[in-house]
Amino acid sequence: MSVPAPHGVWVRNLRVDYGPFTAVPHLDLTIPPGEIYGLIGPNGAGKTSTFRALATLLDPVHGEIFLGGRDARHDPEAARAVLAYMPDLAPLPEDLRAAEYLRFFAESHGLYGPARDQRVAACLEAVDLTGRQHVFCRALSLGMRQRLNLARCLLHRPKVLILDEPASGMDVAARASLKEALRAQAASGTTIILSSHILPEVQDICSSIGLLQNGRLVDSGETREVLLRQSHAKKRLRIRTAGSPENLLSWLYSPDALPAHAPVLRGDTVECQFAGDTEAQARFFTRLAGANLAVVSLEEIHSSIEEVVLRLASAPHEPAAP
Ligand SMILES: Nc1ncnc2c1ncn2[C@@H]1O[C@H](COP(=O)(O)OP(=O)(O)OP(=O)(O)O)[C@@H](O)[C@H]1O
Ligand SMILES: [Mg+2]
Repeated sequence: MSVPAPHGVWVRNLRVDYGPFTAVPHLDLTIPPGEIYGLIGPNGAGKTSTFRALATLLDPVHGEIFLGGRDARHDPEAARAVLAYMPDLAPLPEDLRAAEYLRFFAESHGLYGPARDQRVAACLEAVDLTGRQHVFCRALSLGMRQRLNLARCLLHRPKVLILDEPASGMDVAARASLKEALRAQAASGTTIILSSHILPEVQDICSSIGLLQNGRLVDSGETREVLLRQSHAKKRLRIRTAGSPENLLSWLYSPDALPAHAPVLRGDTVECQFAGDTEAQARFFTRLAGANLAVVSLEEIHSSIEEVVLRLASAPHEPAAP
């Protein structure tokens, strides 16, 4: 009995080398159909290299890659039929009008006549460019160019959409329409993998994320869970008292307060770091309550996605083993 080919995006032992330099030493990824997955990481982490490998544009590439049930390593033609790749800053033919550009690609996907025109109109609408169909590419703004590129990617109803920095150059309204277009695609079963440095956007749109550092996936999973896990490594507490925060501050400097440490005064609240597990936190709360400091609220502060990525970027660089 043959094993069914994995759908969505399924990658095992991916390695990307540029000559003697290994940009991605080892990467495993499993993204089910209909998921929007954000690959995030600092400059040079290997996002574009990973995307180029998935899009069958690099040779040689080591490992196994299945996209929409097609084996991209051994049958790249079949994989290309079900994938679309939008590179960062993709060039456009300046002397074609927006709709002409899409018609050209629609025909390359075997669509002609009314079927072609209907599909072009639907894709222009999906990215909110209907009113610009007769505009020359050279006259499109940066955000409109990105959206036209996305429309080109949607023409053949891909099963896997790979988008490198799709939101760069887009204003707030354009990003909202991008988000809507991607959600509609995902709802129809398309697997979307994207990279972005606009982190609140990633947090908002991606159902799951992966954190890439030096070509290695350091964490991956449901967006909220990854952020929670990353927060635990550097947990912070915010405490407010009805009385003077100075008393709380000096108590936090005492040995009673450990493993809370590094308290700082922020307005009428005090924030501190906490280096213990859940049980240590429960014991800390009991001691705090018994210290007569008139505590009125106490909350755990989770790392924002920006803080998580900043930590990735500032971690010591490990050269990738070839
Ligand atoms: N064509 C190439 N030849 C040699 N090295 C390359 C090439 N392309 C990328 N690299 C190197 O591979 C590493 C990963 O680069 P990559 O472009 O994949 O990073 P990225 O995560 O997309 O970064 P950014 O956020 O800046 O877009 C970097 O060290 C980069 O210098
Ligand atoms: Mg890149």
